[in-house]
Amino acid sequence: MCGIVGYVGAAPALDVVLEGLRRLEYRGYDSAGVAVLDDAQLQVERRAGKLANLDAALAGRQVNGTLGIGHTRWATHGPPTDRNAHPHTDCSGAVAVVHNGTIENFAELRDGLERRGHELASDTDTEAVAHLIEERYADGPTAGDLAASVRSVCRDLDGSFVLVVAHRDHPDLVIGARRNLPLVVGIGEGENFLASDVTAFISHTREARALDQDQLVELRRDGVRVTDLDGNEVPGETFHVDWDTAAAEKAGYEYFMLKEIQEQPEAVSQTIGGRIAANGKLLLDELSISDEDVRDFDKVFFVACGSAYHSSIVGKYAIERWCRLPVEVEMASEFRYRDPVLDKDTLVIAVSQSGETADTLEAVRHARQQRAWVMAITNTVGSSIARESNAAFYTRGGPEIAVASTKATMTQLAAVYLVGLFLAQVRGTREDDEVRSHFHDLATIPELLRDVLGRMDGTRKLARELANEERVLFLGRHVGYPMALEGALKLKELAYVSAEGMPAGEIKHGPIALIEKGTPVVVLATRHALQPKLVTNIQEIRARGARTIVIATDGDDTVAPYADHLIRLPDTKSLLSPLLMLVPLQVLAAEFAMARGLDIDQPRNLAKSVTVE
Ligand code: G6P
Repeated sequence: MCGIVGYVGAAPALDVVLEGLRRLEYRGYDSAGVAVLDDAQLQVERRAGKLANLDAALAGRQVNGTLGIGHTRWATHGPPTDRNAHPHTDCSGAVAVVHNGTIENFAELRDGLERRGHELASDTDTEAVAHLIEERYADGPTAGDLAASVRSVCRDLDGSFVLVVAHRDHPDLVIGARRNLPLVVGIGEGENFLASDVTAFISHTREARALDQDQLVELRRDGVRVTDLDGNEVPGETFHVDWDTAAAEKAGYEYFMLKEIQEQPEAVSQTIGGRIAANGKLLLDELSISDEDVRDFDKVFFVACGSAYHSSIVGKYAIERWCRLPVEVEMASEFRYRDPVLDKDTLVIAVSQSGETADTLEAVRHARQQRAWVMAITNTVGSSIARESNAAFYTRGGPEIAVASTKATMTQLAAVYLVGLFLAQVRGTREDDEVRSHFHDLATIPELLRDVLGRMDGTRKLARELANEERVLFLGRHVGYPMALEGALKLKELAYVSAEGMPAGEIKHGPIALIEKGTPVVVLATRHALQPKLVTNIQEIRARGARTIVIATDGDDTVAPYADHLIRLPDTKSLLSPLLMLVPLQVLAAEFAMARGLDIDQPRNLAKSVTVE
């Protein structure tokens, strides 16, 4: 979704805001804009296209001032054009507003404004907000009080929003407000920041405070004041951000995605580090749930979207195997609308890298209304999903900037295994020794991942050879099946080719009709009890002309005769094999897309966290 930055301090605001936008560009990148308060005038510049277009428009333009706001957009209302780019202003250019989210009653608000003589220059819902603030600031009980005017407007908005507002009469005040979407305050010395996420300001300060639902912040050089929408001051806690600036930079890689793929061994170490005590007990203390409540669960639902959904399917297989508990996995966008059967003995696990995905957040809310116990598995401390769940298990993957998820998915996998082992231990379905042994297998994964990353040259070469193909199929069985889905999703996201992942046993029931001479089919065939059946499936597709790309375990020669290309992985427990399979699938998709000349960090039409349903 859109990225938002606000700044008030002593430094040149344009530089600070543009730097913040650069770090947030992953959230949306179809247009961008800034407003800087320069000598009692708001200097506004906005451009369709990537941030580079805004940079070019600003080049050579003298914009001074130490207060500014900025925005990078993922279009909802109105196409990505210059005039729809944010910031939006009121009739006289006194107020500038940037906005993330969608205002559902915008048509009615715009009609009212037009009837009252305002001229709206864009197709957006956001512009209505600028004109409403203009009215409330000019007249009535909130006249002359910017914060009160914004609060009053927020109360009239339906939908979700983060708003950041500057006014030419207020050289020491930036206002931020939020509902349903994230807004974080960065607390510095003599300067303060607002942003959609902390990456925008961590080069300036690591002290942050997340705003809560329906709160507004008045940001001044010497402090911040947070109120509810009625104007009552509300207390809140600050937190320290551990990520260093380097984590949010490319560090010499051409793309963030390539860097994030390489970071996976370390990321998994972070996820599992410190999770087991000397006596073999798993330490998932942050879940703060009694053993008795864990024992009372009689079913589990995973809810998630995109790559997180694929991690969840692996979680289902692990929990069912280790805990003998029934587990369902549901795409979050479908979950609440089919009225699933939930009660207080249901465990709902919401998996989300960003912790802000609207579909998943709504699923969490629905589950809580039904009295289920909700656990978030997320990478983002203080995110909405973390806050609205009963407990949050943090994956500690570090910032993931590339839109297509790699290390976040990897750490989600590690997390679902840990949660599965924890449930098995507390419920007594696995002996402590066995839990310890599985944990130790998990602990070998970072080293195995380093090994896998070191052998990807062949996969890259193959990807370049395949780069003109327009259709690729991915097959797997058991835990290989969700990885087939993930391999196909990566290729779709990055290379815009039609890719389909499916259970290998299902292909004969229809999809085999897609196979013609030379169709590339990636088969996830690492060592597994189901492998003989997979060998049969490979033979079936090969007999129809498929070009088979087989991912197999070191030393296993049963599949080799049927492979046109072999990608070898080190051996590990079959249940844990998705952790290793992910890497060649990521590398294949990234290299395939790069060979087609595409930007793998910012694929077309996508956004990192989708905060609309
Ligand atoms: C978007 C991204 C996907 C991601 C999904 C879920 O669609 O493009 O890569 O997997 O959202 O995101 P989440 O932050 O909830 O894990």
